[in-house]
Amino acid sequence: MARRKMIYEGKAKILYEGPEPGTIVQYFKDDATAFNNQKKATLEGKGVLNNRISEFIMIGLMRAGIPTHFIRRLNMREQLVRQVEIIPLEVICRNVAAGSLCTRLGIEEGTALPRSIIEYCYKKDELGDPLVTEDHITAFNWASPQDLDDIIALTVRINDFLTGMFAAVGIQLVDFKLEFGRLYEGDMMRIVLADEISPDSCRLWDIETQEKMDKDRFRRDLGNVTEAYTEVARRLGVIKESGTVTNIEEVMK
Ligand code: C5P
Repeated sequence: MARRKMIYEGKAKILYEGPEPGTIVQYFKDDATAFNNQKKATLEGKGVLNNRISEFIMIGLMRAGIPTHFIRRLNMREQLVRQVEIIPLEVICRNVAAGSLCTRLGIEEGTALPRSIIEYCYKKDELGDPLVTEDHITAFNWASPQDLDDIIALTVRINDFLTGMFAAVGIQLVDFKLEFGRLYEGDMMRIVLADEISPDSCRLWDIETQEKMDKDRFRRDLGNVTEAYTEVARRLGVIKESGTVTNIEEVMK
């Protein structure tokens, strides 16, 4: 069998050409990076957990009517997704002050925000993904005003869905990062959610103890990173108490 073609290798994922035109295989690595690649580690099992958690969330979002690139999970580390034209933005949605918002504005971590705040970063590693405004986005044509309206509307709906989903299992959704792409179907184009949603891209705090259950455990050397991701997966019902992975169809019923 011919070796499949690698399209792109990112920090936590590899993209391969999919089996049919217009599809891509997204492979979840165990690698973790932070601070624009300055901190690196391999966290055994992280890729498997993120593949499962992201699958669970993408299926839930699709059932709630949110368009995504997700088609189906293929195996422990891979999922089949639609090929999209990635919009070069990291769309960050915040419910509680944490991370770079606190550093930038001098707000204490954990402060409830008066309302959810959406921020945009331009995806450019060499520049450290700088914060940009809607004016930059439309002036430089990274997204049209219509694209941006769709992105905002989808982000608000995703925030509502995820906030409720996590609250139901005792987890507070502090903030998260989304990526969007343009999906072309004949003459039509629509904006869909792309990439992944996992503890790598969200801040998740235990509602009772305020314990961090996300990538901040790695960024801040708090230890037990995969244990925290496993606990998120367990609470969502993606894996059973024993740690064995359950049938996703069972979980989604
Ligand atoms: O670092 P900052 O506070 O701006 O991060 C906000 C949210 O976006 C966090 O949940 C973080 O995990 C996520 N993020 C990400 N990838 C980046 C930057 C931030 O997933 N490159």
